[in-house]
Amino acid sequence: MIRAGIVTASDSRSDGQAVDRATGPLRDELEQHEVAVVACLLVPDDVERIGAAIARLVDVDGVDLVLTTGGTGLGPRDVTPEATRAVIEREVPGIAELLRIESARSTQHAWLSRGLAGTRGRALVVNLPGSPRGAVECARMVLPLAGHALDVLRGAGHDHPDDARMKAAPT
Ligand code: MTE
Repeated sequence: MIRAGIVTASDSRSDGQAVDRATGPLRDELEQHEVAVVACLLVPDDVERIGAAIARLVDVDGVDLVLTTGGTGLGPRDVTPEATRAVIEREVPGIAELLRIESARSTQHAWLSRGLAGTRGRALVVNLPGSPRGAVECARMVLPLAGHALDVLRGAGHDHPDDARMKAAPT
């Protein structure tokens, strides 16, 4: 079972001025897909705090998957991609590209999300937009890839069912 952590980045939600409506639906979505959500951290839009939350989930809680929500746009306080870049070791640009392309089918504003994805140790870290609907939609896009991504991150072989067919085929 995949163990996940959620980082919700929002100034107004973390200081109690607004209600956090994204974390609950995102958590429910993950749990419906048999993902265990071991921790949810609510932090302000601050590079250090967001980076520390991601690093803690991976290094201390040992999660396989970190999903952040919020702070990916163009607002002056939107710094989640910068915070993520500082704590990941390798980028996985295809995941961020997938989220933007698929999300743009429902809103062209998806192109304004600067979210990125990457790896830290044996964990996958993915930035999702802050709207509850956007976060859930994007989580649904990531989950089908997560199992194989984590297997490969842990050093599993790249064998694919098609490989055997290719080898058997006459040249
Ligand atoms: N992606 C999906 N799937 N659904 C959405 O509603 N909202 C967009 C975009 N991506 C959205 C989405 C909007 S309106 C913005 S401004 C950007 O994500 C950045 O959002 P954020 O700053 O809350 O992360």
